[in-house]
Amino acid sequence: MPFYHKLGTIPPKRHTTFYKKDKTLHREELYSTKGFSGIYSNKYHLYMPTEITSMSKTSKAGEEVWSDCPFEWRVFHTFKNKKEGDAISSRMRYLYNETCSISTATPTTSCKAFYKNVYAHEMIFIHEGAGKLKSDFGVIEFAEGDYLVIPKGVIYQIDVNTPNNRHFVVECTTAFEIPRMFRNEYGQCAEHAPYCERDFRAPSHLETIDQKGDFDIYVKAGNNWFIHKLNHHPFDVVGWDGYEYPYAFNIKEYAPIVGKIHQPPPVHQVFQTESLVICNFVPRLFDWHENSIPAPYFHTNVDSDEVIYYVEGNFMSRKGIEKGSISHHPTGLPHGPQPGKTEESIGKKETNEYAVMIDTFAPLHSTVAVQSCMDPEYAKSWLK
Ligand SMILES: [Fe+2]
Repeated sequence: MPFYHKLGTIPPKRHTTFYKKDKTLHREELYSTKGFSGIYSNKYHLYMPTEITSMSKTSKAGEEVWSDCPFEWRVFHTFKNKKEGDAISSRMRYLYNETCSISTATPTTSCKAFYKNVYAHEMIFIHEGAGKLKSDFGVIEFAEGDYLVIPKGVIYQIDVNTPNNRHFVVECTTAFEIPRMFRNEYGQCAEHAPYCERDFRAPSHLETIDQKGDFDIYVKAGNNWFIHKLNHHPFDVVGWDGYEYPYAFNIKEYAPIVGKIHQPPPVHQVFQTESLVICNFVPRLFDWHENSIPAPYFHTNVDSDEVIYYVEGNFMSRKGIEKGSISHHPTGLPHGPQPGKTEESIGKKETNEYAVMIDTFAPLHSTVAVQSCMDPEYAKSWLK
């Protein structure tokens, strides 16, 4: 996160005595990135975070790889799929490579167990539904349009308020960060950035739970799953401070940058990691040059696979797109508006679209979940 935050009670000086009412010590835990050199937070627990009574391997059925997947453009409609479960068990993975996974989730129930992804940071876009993200950093209430950013290693649960949630999930081995171009030399959001610190929501309050017992944490390490049994409730933190914690940002807070002629996707960027960028397209005024073409030009990105998750509105350069559709345009293949869409865009003044785009720097593989809901004719959609 770009700013310092603290919640609860912490001692005035780090790494010093901090006693509980019963005269025993709170347990300080440094939660840090890049060894001891990156951003970090210091948490103060009621119990030692290491009191794990058992660690066992488990498994979670995942989507099979689509092994003979053709190299072509593809659109698939994720709203056709629904899996019962909580925000973690209902995930369906569609695309992945060595550094990231792209999934949707359709939680119908709140999490009963706890969850920790130890190899990947997570970004969960709430397309539909509302609820609470709970962790030992505190509570974040969420609703439609929120991005939830959860750093790797955070133990969390998601409560849902309705059985009709639709989430779009990106897991990445490196952190989701505010793009460098939108920050000044001190890390503050720059004056020209499409958002500022006021738009980011850190956990609002702690719900500290002092309870002994058996608490199952489902730990995901790459493709492997483990159950760690902790002998106390994982949310036993009485206070913390620092720069590394989960947070939320709503897509409707994004103030888009527009121009006299067509602006490229990087102006619409929201997050970056070391292996992908995330942009969002939001309602905005179109270009005002007298001869401008608002629809994008054809383009061949030779170093990126492009994935667009369609949220709502009338997407200007595509036909046959529904809420929850995903287009996947692999690296090296040209793509652009479908026939008629360029001409249709001329003279248009604004768009009401919402979409989230991911450009990955390594090619993506597909799972059979893509096959289950894809449009088989999409690759021919540029032929009149
Ligand atoms: Fe594109």
